[in-house]
This record gives sequence, C-alpha cells and structure tokens, in this order.
Amino acid sequence: MRHLVDTLRESHHLNDEGYEALLTSEDAELLEYLRREAQRVATSVFGQGIFVRGLIELTNVCRNDCYYCGIRRSNVALPRYILTHEQVMQSCQAGHELGFRTFVLQGGELPREKAPWIAGLVADIRARWSDCAITLSLGEWPREDYELFRNAGADRYLLRHESHNAAHYAKLHPREMSLDNRLRCLNDLRELGFQTGTGIMVGSPGQTIAHIVEDIKFIELFKPQMIGLGPFVPHHDTPLGQFPAGSIDLTTRLYSIFRLMFPHALIPSTTALNSLHPEGRVMGIRAGANVVMPNLTPASARENYTLYDGKAITDPAEGIQQLETQLNRIGYHIDWGRGDYKEPIKTL
Ligand code: 5AD
Repeated sequence: MRHLVDTLRESHHLNDEGYEALLTSEDAELLEYLRREAQRVATSVFGQGIFVRGLIELTNVCRNDCYYCGIRRSNVALPRYILTHEQVMQSCQAGHELGFRTFVLQGGELPREKAPWIAGLVADIRARWSDCAITLSLGEWPREDYELFRNAGADRYLLRHESHNAAHYAKLHPREMSLDNRLRCLNDLRELGFQTGTGIMVGSPGQTIAHIVEDIKFIELFKPQMIGLGPFVPHHDTPLGQFPAGSIDLTTRLYSIFRLMFPHALIPSTTALNSLHPEGRVMGIRAGANVVMPNLTPASARENYTLYDGKAITDPAEGIQQLETQLNRIGYHIDWGRGDYKEPIKTL
C-alpha cells in the first residue's frame, strides 16, 4: 500500500478508496512511511523552522450555541469576558517583545454591533505593528463585516467548516446554523483577499470515516492556505460532554495526508492535541505540521476561555522557552518570521 503514499505525494490526490484506506489502515509500517514522507515534504519546503502565532483569546462571549463548545451561549456556568482595547494592545506589545510577528485574535461570536469595535482594534494593531500579520478567528459574520475587518488591515481568517456533511453538521450545531452559511462565509473571506484557513475537529460525535473523506474532498477543492485540525475534546457543560475525545493518531494521520496534498499549506499542531498529550505538539510536527500558536491572553481571562476541558495553560514567556527546548530536541527551532503563505514559483 506504500504506493498510496507515493501517489499522494506526487499527484497530491487520491480517490475516495485511497483516502479511506489511509485513514483506516492498521499497518504500522505504512503509517510510519506516511508520517515520514509528510515530515520530509514539510522540511523540504519550510526547513527546520516552525512558525509561531501569538494567540489572543479576545472574548468568550458568543451568540452561537454549538453543541460541542464550552463557550456556547447556553453555558450559564461560565463567567464571561471581553478583553478591553488596552488589554489587547498590551498583549500584542508583550508578544511583539517576545518576537511574535503574527497575532491571532480568536474568540466567540460577538454581537453584530461589535463589528466596528473589532475593526478599530485591528486598525490600531495594524498602525502600531506594521511588520506583523493579523489573523482573525471570530466566527461567522455578514460579508460587509468581513469587509470592514479586511479594510482595517486583517490579513488572514480562520474558520473551520467543522463538517462538510450537512447531516453531521446538523448534529453538532443548533438549527439556526447551517453548513451553507459556513461555506458562504468561507467564500466571502476568500473573495475579500484573506489568506483563509479551514478545517475540522477530528473524532467529533457522529463523525465517520466517510465524513472525513468528504472533508478532505472539500478541502482539496477549496484549497485553503491554512488547515486547522484538532481532536474533539469533550467539555462537561455541553450537550456532547459525554462523548469520548478524538484520536491523536487519526489527527496526526490527517496532518500527514494534508501535508502531502498541500506541501505549502500552513498547518498548525493545535492546542487541543497538546491538551490530550504533553508531547502532542511534537507529534503533530513530526507528522508534517509547521505552525504552533502559543497563548498571549492575560492569565485571568485565559482560564475562562474554555472551549473544552483540560486545556493546557502556560505563561507566554515560559511557554516559549519550553517550546524552543521541545523543538530543539527533535532538531527544529522557532522561525520568528511572519510566515505568510507562499505559492511555489512555477517553472516551465
Ligand atoms: N473540542 C475540540 N475543539 C473544539 N473547538 C470548539 N469546541 C471544541 C471542543 N470541544 C474548536 C472548533 C472551533 C475552534 C475555534 O475550536 O473547531 O472552530
């Protein structure tokens, strides 16, 4: 079955059966070959450098009610916060001093009236740190609000599609949400010139291998610049809190598959992975991921940004030291560049 890995590496595509075979294989040798080839492709494009993004968890206020997510609006047990403009600027300042050149503002979906406030924040970050990339991960908005964010200076937007199967999507989300609107958002973001990221939770309740193949095929078509995948991790105060966590193995296997499909994509080794296993981040990098997102959120807020149970919490400066040590141990280092997506130069 090694030929599947070779075909994926050379043509960046497999048929449905091929993807399914890689996702379900229990052949340790084949899986090690998949991992090794993905890691080899990643280092041939990015070298031994791993990009870092400073994550600022802007708010845990959310107008949405996703069944898996700890900050869903129905979770009344959670104390809510919105960072102040000043707190965000201070977090960026601290991050910039540490060396970060990408800031990711992530958060729940604020009420629509807050769009101008978000745009103002983006504009101020853009004006003060012109050498930095600004990524937003703030969920679903009407196109005109995305346009406001883009015009204010945001460069990138992360919005996982979560599941490309409409029936499965409906098991994870309340009725007022739809896969169609999620896809509308992704298309708007792309048209507005954002570097766009999408992805899924691996092992979300009800997810089958066939669903994952559908997700792979959507991503193959959409060609995002960034691909975000993390294991589902239950949160005790949600309707899906009793389901088991997703598998680390399947998550890293997908990193490898996407790396072979998209040699140049930015693929983070995600926080959820590290929350399930202390070496999760390293496992992700060894499978072909090339980005990590250390947390710059002020500590008091961070403890209430609980998408799932057991989130790993470390102080930013200390976290960077640990990360560098962890990376050095496997022959990698932090790359402090902005780390924009770069299309390969095509030669005839
Ligand atoms: N487990 C894992 N990931 C989660 N997310 C939200 N809730 C959970 C959970 N319980 C992810 C979603 C979202 C991203 C910001 O966090 O995929 O897109």
